[in-house]
Amino acid sequence: MTLLDGKKVSNEIKDEITIEVANMKERGEKVPHLAAVLVGNDGASLTYVGSKVRSCKKIGFESTLIHLPSETTEEDLLAKVQELNADADIDGYIVQLPLPKHIDEEKVLMAVDPDKDVDGFHPANFGKMALDMETFISATPFGIMELLKRYKVDTQGKHAVVIGRSHIVGRPISILLSQKGEAANCTVTLAHSRTKDIKELTLQADIIVSALGVPHFLKEDMVKDGAVIIDVGITRVADDSKEKGYYITGDVDFEPVSKKASFITPVPGGVGPMTIAMLLKNTLLARERHRSVK
Ligand code: GUN
Repeated sequence: MTLLDGKKVSNEIKDEITIEVANMKERGEKVPHLAAVLVGNDGASLTYVGSKVRSCKKIGFESTLIHLPSETTEEDLLAKVQELNADADIDGYIVQLPLPKHIDEEKVLMAVDPDKDVDGFHPANFGKMALDMETFISATPFGIMELLKRYKVDTQGKHAVVIGRSHIVGRPISILLSQKGEAANCTVTLAHSRTKDIKELTLQADIIVSALGVPHFLKEDMVKDGAVIIDVGITRVADDSKEKGYYITGDVDFEPVSKKASFITPVPGGVGPMTIAMLLKNTLLARERHRSVK
């Protein structure tokens, strides 16, 4: 069994970007600038956004955190989005999800300038991704593809079962794995909450991507020998014995499943750090694209 070490690979990617940023500085060019909008005080979102902003600082990007109160109106958030669209200094930005219930997420994501949409959530970018065109690929699926590439996991002609049909992970990764190319060319089955017999499917899978958010969902008896296991779940489970009052776990019952797997991502330290690295990569791409049109 080989551990797909997202922490290690994400550090390699961040090192590569750091060198590019240093070169940009040396040439007297503007460095990439990422902004993140966070509405409210959801604990997990605060952690993720904090981590994204810290990573920017480390690699030499400029970063701006816009933290708005949970009572922010949809109108005010849309005004902030328009402000970011118009700000020539910002190369890319994200609006951290989930948004408070009173705000229409779709409306907000539609308002983001596709050229600054480093999350790849705008329909124009999602559509380009689905059509194999160059675009911003959402960070989590992009990170999974990069991890498979860097570990040279053989995916050609394999049966991949993706569990979960979210717009952020399940749907896009099912499309990317089915496309032509490296770390792709899979036959893909997309399973979800209405799927009749998930175990019957996962037992046939050469590759399983679980993006469900249900701790320890994928058990040893649902996995065939030699399968590649990608765990996208990151759930906080309350635990008073821990200093923070919780621990982080994935969708996969790691210990027993890892004994059968050929490759497996840990949680934490697998897909999570890759997501941040690919967001930074998209921001670098955004800067390069803006430079080439200015
Ligand atoms: N919430 C969970 N994952 C993501 C992500 O990749 N981007 C944003 N903006 N919000 C998220």
